[in-house]
Amino acid sequence: MQRGVRAEFDRVRLRYSGAQDVLKGVTFTLEPGETLGVLGRTGSDKTTLIRLLFRLYAATEGAVRFDGVDVREARLDDLRRRVGLVTQDVQLFHGTVRENLSFFDPAVTEERITAVTSELGVGTWLASLREGLDTPLTAGGGGLSRGESQLLAFARVFLKDPGLVILDEPSSRLDPATEKTLTRAVDRLLEHRTGIIIAHRLETVQRGDKILVLSGGEIAEFGSRQALSRNPASHYSRLLALSGGASLDETMEKLGDATE
Ligand SMILES: Nc1ncnc2c1ncn2[C@@H]1O[C@H](COP(=O)(O)OP(=O)(O)OP(=O)(O)O)[C@@H](O)[C@H]1O
Ligand SMILES: [Mg+2]
Repeated sequence: MQRGVRAEFDRVRLRYSGAQDVLKGVTFTLEPGETLGVLGRTGSDKTTLIRLLFRLYAATEGAVRFDGVDVREARLDDLRRRVGLVTQDVQLFHGTVRENLSFFDPAVTEERITAVTSELGVGTWLASLREGLDTPLTAGGGGLSRGESQLLAFARVFLKDPGLVILDEPSSRLDPATEKTLTRAVDRLLEHRTGIIIAHRLETVQRGDKILVLSGGEIAEFGSRQALSRNPASHYSRLLALSGGASLDETMEKLGDATE
């Protein structure tokens, strides 16, 4: 079963309010089911790229397309149904766990929630809640740990079942057990779907079929991960060689001069 969409950036330029373009002609294509790992130093427009897919901003020039359709021509609710976004800061509402998972949609059944949460490996966590799915949560995440919020965000995306999953990975680590559950959840989410991961750790990037290195609003490198890792001159293989246990962000910093 293939639910992934084809995502295409075609000579995309974007200017926020200032005089300078933040994206300066970005072109790449992700085929259905492929996973893209996005790397770049802080401020290299990674989050900006994602905003275009969700149409939080529209390209100043060029086009972003889903299965060949310009996102500007798509219905906004339809577009946002097809894109699942997990960001570092999970937005929680004042409501129960069930309402937070289903976005208050009564059509999402208990059976489906239970199936999804156990598939993601978070069933045990849910079962441990005093009132289960009816446990109240407060806006801002009261009552949930950071890891639990992340797991809830994954379950949300799973319930929405989009063709494109975007993950802006948190830069700080959680406890090993939670990390393991999260890794599993990401694997399950990306199965049969197109995925874009803004990665802050090497393990995550190694999941990608393709790698995109952004620098100053331009693509410094784009290609298949395997091909890039075989080419010792690529940014990606230099990154692998340089990392030596350091965080990806630190290593990007070291590589900075080369990608600038
Ligand atoms: N809404 C906005 N209006 C104007 N400028 C913005 C806006 N959002 C981001 N920028 C600018 O665009 C540039 C890229 O920001 P962006 O958040 O995309 O970087 P990033 O690669 O995601 O960085 P990080 O790794 O820190 O998350 C920055 O110079 C930022 O100041
Ligand atoms: Mg960002």
